[in-house]
Amino acid sequence: MSFNVAIDGPAGAGKSTAARTAAELAGFIYVDTGAMYRAIGLYFLENDVDIHDEEACCEKLPDIQVTIIHKDDVQHILLNGEDVSERIRTQEVGEAASVTSAYPEVRAKLLDLQRDLAKAYDVIMDGRDIGTTILPDADLKIFLTASADVRAMRRVSELEKKGIAADFETVRQEILDRDERDMNREISPLRKAEDAVVLDSSCLDIEETAEEVLRLIRERQQDGN
Ligand code: DC
Repeated sequence: MSFNVAIDGPAGAGKSTAARTAAELAGFIYVDTGAMYRAIGLYFLENDVDIHDEEACCEKLPDIQVTIIHKDDVQHILLNGEDVSERIRTQEVGEAASVTSAYPEVRAKLLDLQRDLAKAYDVIMDGRDIGTTILPDADLKIFLTASADVRAMRRVSELEKKGIAADFETVRQEILDRDERDMNREISPLRKAEDAVVLDSSCLDIEETAEEVLRLIRERQQDGN
């Protein structure tokens, strides 16, 4: 049986970096479910589908194929056979993913893909509803969070590193808007699973967060033996 770790939490809490690093250290496969929603969002943007028109979006779903491959343990996301791992990382695609992930048919499309990966491999899977909906029997559930100010600061410095100037207040507001949408949608909202361990990364750097995730995995593995 595979060992499954679910990490959920708001945008910018450091889920993906911590999950990727911890997965490398633990020898697990890292599955970034946000990337799957982003690939679908990218398809809508590039094909001029109005992301606010649920019916129009759902009509297009049969034309969209999302595939995950792992090369040297790094996740690549394919949209209709094309590697879009880089192109999905923009703010605009993140917004499109946040809006369209609220549509039940979009979520249903990705459910089996996510569950099949967890069945086949030891995974650390990150997202918003992994512990509550996708893998309710995960061996370990972590709710990774950080204050909105810290998340905004991290995002600004990430953008600055890419040479993109960013205004702290604007970024902070975008983060709050995204939290609001992700937490208040009707289907699979961002929520802490009852049995999740809360990890606040506000005062931790990436290594410290990843180490804490790894420590929790080791602890849970020992409990299970
Ligand atoms: O983690 P991220 O920023 O890459 O996710 C982009 C959007 O996708 C996020 O705002 C909400 C949605 N998402 C989701 O609804 N469920 C998941 N399991 C992962 C992401």
